[in-house]
Amino acid sequence: MGGILVYVFLLLLTLVSYIVRRREKKDAHQTFKLPPGSMGWPYIGETLQLYSQDPKVFFASKQKRYGEIFKTHILGCPCVMLASPEAARFVLVTQAHLFKPTYPKSKEHLIGPSALFFHQGDYHMRLRKLVQGSLSLDVIRNLTPHISGAASSTLDSWDGGRVINTFQELKKFSFEVGILAIFGHLESHYREELKKNYSIVDKGYNSFPTNIPGFPYRKAMEARKRLSKILGQIICERKEKRLLERDLLGCLLNSKDEKGEVLTDDQIADNIIGVLFAAQDTTASAMTWIVKYLHDHPKLLEDVKAEQEAILKLNDEENRPLSWSQTRSMTHSQKVVLESLRMASIISFTFREAVADVEYKGYLIPKGWKVMPLFRNIHHSPEYFSDPQKFDPSRFEVAPKPNTFMPFGSGVHACPGNELAKLEMLIMIHHLVTKFRWEVVGSQTGTQYGPFPVPMHGLPARFWKESSTARVAALSN
Ligand code: HEM
Ligand SMILES: *[C@@H]1O[C@H](CO)[C@@H](O)[C@H](O)[C@H]1NC(C)=O
Repeated sequence: MGGILVYVFLLLLTLVSYIVRRREKKDAHQTFKLPPGSMGWPYIGETLQLYSQDPKVFFASKQKRYGEIFKTHILGCPCVMLASPEAARFVLVTQAHLFKPTYPKSKEHLIGPSALFFHQGDYHMRLRKLVQGSLSLDVIRNLTPHISGAASSTLDSWDGGRVINTFQELKKFSFEVGILAIFGHLESHYREELKKNYSIVDKGYNSFPTNIPGFPYRKAMEARKRLSKILGQIICERKEKRLLERDLLGCLLNSKDEKGEVLTDDQIADNIIGVLFAAQDTTASAMTWIVKYLHDHPKLLEDVKAEQEAILKLNDEENRPLSWSQTRSMTHSQKVVLESLRMASIISFTFREAVADVEYKGYLIPKGWKVMPLFRNIHHSPEYFSDPQKFDPSRFEVAPKPNTFMPFGSGVHACPGNELAKLEMLIMIHHLVTKFRWEVVGSQTGTQYGPFPVPMHGLPARFWKESSTARVAALSN
């Protein structure tokens, strides 16, 4: 009898404590409310709105209506968008451990699931150190003459005034630079095979993820398998040579963790494809915007030209190539690069996922919700950049306020390729403005998203190489 009573008592106790705990949990939810905003239709959410209008307009009108933090529903996921520097810092820097990277599975499979940007914690840190090391100033300065050579031959291939798609052409250049940073020198047959197969992967990246034969996604997955094979061969050859190179492949091959374990060939391949992917379209689209902005602002072009012609004149006289230290002193061109990155905001926003219920400024961000820091909204806010729609490199004579300028992101996943990207852009500017004149074809304004913003139709344009005599004449005028 007593036994049963004790049993009933214990049962009641567990029940009560369960209810109390539920209550407490509920209370936590109740004290913090969800951010304002509309969720749209179930599942489809506001995806249609996002895709049927300029995303710039979508985010800007939301922010106007709800403020710097608001909820929405896109691509089947509830989501909190954040449009203030403090909120971006909270998610990406100070509380980064509460927000993990999140990408659609189809994209993860295509690039390779071991690529660093899908990861968090120890594995991410290990790979990040290796990638950062291979892209540090000390290493990339030695790439200057090679990047310079690649820029020259890319531009030379545009000569003659036929219409080219500037973005597509610049993608070839940023791919070459990616290859240089990853492999140093690579035999030309490997380079060709990688280039051709990678371009098939690239085409599948934004297509509908289906495995039906003949569809771009399926073709991309097949090309991705061939890339692994080619990389396997390159890795094998490198291992035989036992070189201690400081390029990315060398860093990845030489890495041992605290237990002495090396990276597997698949981990190395995924990270190489990951870096190629992170490096190509981003840098090419930034450079396309630079070509457009310089074209649209003749006075600025004159200033940049004067700066670059002075460098070229000196180098011509002393018969030497463009040097690393010269790229560090191109103050005018550097500001053009920064202002182009602000205006274009290539990475307009990023995605994370809350790994726990998180409170921010009295609002609840529930576990499992997506979180999007909106870089573009911050870069285009009159609060941080006066007259934000105006292209004005001189605004960078003063450093932007902390956390307001994040073209390369921020915190544990910030872009390790940012110095290489800037170097590449400056070198391209040098050769472009000193040796070429160009005209943009058609008067289309507007932006295309693929998914990075690019000028409409990739900026069709004609380029002519100016003879050096014409250059000298122009200089002495
Ligand atoms: C103008 C050109 C570029 C822009 C605007 C850019 C921008 C960014 C941004 C915003 C992120 C952070 C994304 C996030 O937090 O979700 C990022 C990450 C990354 N970028 Fe770049 N990037 C550029 C060029 C490059 C280049 C040239 C390379 C390599 C050669 C590169 C390699 C990477 C890698 C590996 C990551 C992932 C880092 C991590 O997860 O720890 N990027 N980039
Ligand atoms: C892709 O890679 C394979 C090697 O695996 C190579 O034979 C082929 O020529 C490459 N190019 C294309 C377009 O598939």
